[in-house]
This record gives sequence, structure tokens and C-alpha cells, in this order.
Amino acid sequence: MKTPEAQSAAATGDPDPAFRADVLACFRDSRRAIPARWFYDKTGSELFEAITDLPEYYPTRTETGLLKRYCGEVTEMGGRGRAVVEFGSGSSVKTPHLLRAVQGQHYVPIDISGDFLRESAAALAADFPGLAVHPLEGDFMRPLQLPDAVAGTPKLGFFPGSTIGNMVARTSLDLLRSMRETLGVGSLLLIGMDRIKSPDILVPAYDDAQGVTARFNLNLLHRINRELDATIPVERFRHVARWNDNYARIEMHLEALEDIDFTVLGERFSMAKSETIHTENSHKYGPRDARLLLRAGGWTTLHEWTDPDDWFALILAEAKPFQTAP
Ligand code: TRP
Repeated sequence: MKTPEAQSAAATGDPDPAFRADVLACFRDSRRAIPARWFYDKTGSELFEAITDLPEYYPTRTETGLLKRYCGEVTEMGGRGRAVVEFGSGSSVKTPHLLRAVQGQHYVPIDISGDFLRESAAALAADFPGLAVHPLEGDFMRPLQLPDAVAGTPKLGFFPGSTIGNMVARTSLDLLRSMRETLGVGSLLLIGMDRIKSPDILVPAYDDAQGVTARFNLNLLHRINRELDATIPVERFRHVARWNDNYARIEMHLEALEDIDFTVLGERFSMAKSETIHTENSHKYGPRDARLLLRAGGWTTLHEWTDPDDWFALILAEAKPFQTAP
């Protein structure tokens, strides 16, 4: 959902004010970080699609395998005919497996990008003739009002892609609570979470041999140059993916290879050699971490499905009524 400021900025060719604010804050601050949402311009979105096909990037392939195999069991446990509510539906590529199994009459894809949402909703509606698709444009980080059409239907939330891992703990907890508000007590949630595993597997997944993830990360600097009239020497940065064991997460950074000076919208900045800009987190969860996080957010795990290596988990949880403490 574009803000009115972003819409009028787009109409005049001025930069998106939120993008400008985030980037200037990053370079004015000593702890440099840029929110990951700015990765996804047209090039960034294309590079992200390419990442999901990389040999080193196991999550998409593993999760899709689990969905193909276990959506029938999910439906047996949760009951047929639930309205599927997908958070951050994007292109909805993983959804058909679930919709086919659930055989419900309603699908509510939620996404912040209205155009993308309506396009993929239309494509999906064409493949599922009996299905009523109710696209909902909005920020799923906050509780949302679902369409009246699904008011009387039990709900199954769907949040694949280990997207919850891209949030820090407190934000992921806020999200789980919001989802509980949006869906209501008695609802189910099917969520994909990437497991903690050896950094020998994790790091290459975010730093592939072909350099696609590096291009994806560096594209953010090109975007800043393009949209914020900046002079960042992109070739003097390198992509870094590192495992932070204390936070159990992969971090992506852009590291300056030497001391550099540049301008953004006329304002002068500098970075010292080996200073980094933090651009993304991907938190990983052990089985008990995952269940504790869900429970803290109001979701009790009913079942989990994993691949034979236990690299990725598909978890079904229920918003049970809160019980008074014993
Ligand atoms: N949520 C997925 C993950 O953390 C996909 C993803 C989000 C991603 N941002 C990314 C993958 C940046 C690579 C780079 O793995």
C-alpha cells in the first residue's frame, strides 16, 4: 500500500520520502542499517526470484517439497473447507498446494503491494474456478479486518518462506499477536520456519558461488544512486553473509573495501574501510525455539513436518483460548 506521500512523490518523479528518510538515517547514524524492504525494486525482485532457484539456496525447494507432500495431512488435522488467509502473499506460488488440499471456498491474500496482489489474485482465481478470492491490500504487521464474506468460516493462516525469520524477535512476536487478532481464537496457522544448522550450509545459501545474492544485496546501492541522486562507488563494496551465533541468524552486510566519500541528495557522507551497512537478517529456529516463539505469540503447536535432514519446518499451530495460570 503506497502512502499518499509516496504516490504524490511517484507522480512528480521525486524520491519516495520513506526511502529517502531511511537511507539518510543510515548514513547519519554510526550504526548503519537499511530496512530490507528497500531491496525489492524491479531488479531486486527479479534477483530474489533467481535466488530461490540457486543450488545453495535450499529453503524454497525444501519448503515446497514439504507442502507438496503434507498439505493433505494439514487438512486432515485442521479440517477441510477452511478459508485460507495468506500473509504477504506476493506471487502466491506456494499457495495452490494448500488450496487444492483444503478445498475451501475462500482465499484471502494479504499484501502491501496492491498491483502485485491483484495480478496474482486474478491468476489464481483463474486456476481455481470455485474459489472466491478476496485480495486485501494492507500491512499485515497490524491487525486487519477480514472481509465479511469469511466471517462465519473457520480460518487457516498461511505464512510460508521463513519470512518470520527476517524479523527480530520482538517484531516477530508482535506479528504473531497481530495474526491472532486478525484470524481470531480457534484459527490455525501454517508457518514455514528455517532450522538452525551448520554455518557450512547456512552461509553459502546467502553467499552463492554465482554471486546472485551478492548482486541482490549490491543492487540496493545502485537503487540509492538511481533514486536518491547519490554517488556511492558500488564497486568499492562487497557483499558479506555471516552467521551470528548469539542471535542465531544469518546477517547480510555491505562492506566498504576502502575509505570512501560520496553524496546522497547533495549531503556528504563517508565510510571507513571495513565498515558495513547491515541490510538483512534471517533468523533460524531450533524445534523448541520455534514452539516457544509461537506460544509466546498466542499459538500452540499442533504438529510439525520437516525434511529428512531437518533443515526446514512446516508448523501447524492453533490460536487456543488463553487459559488462566494454574
Ligand atoms: N525469508 C527468506 C530467507 O530469509 C527469504 C529472504 C528474505 C532472503 N530476504 C532475503 C533470501 C535476502 C536471501 C537474501 O531466507
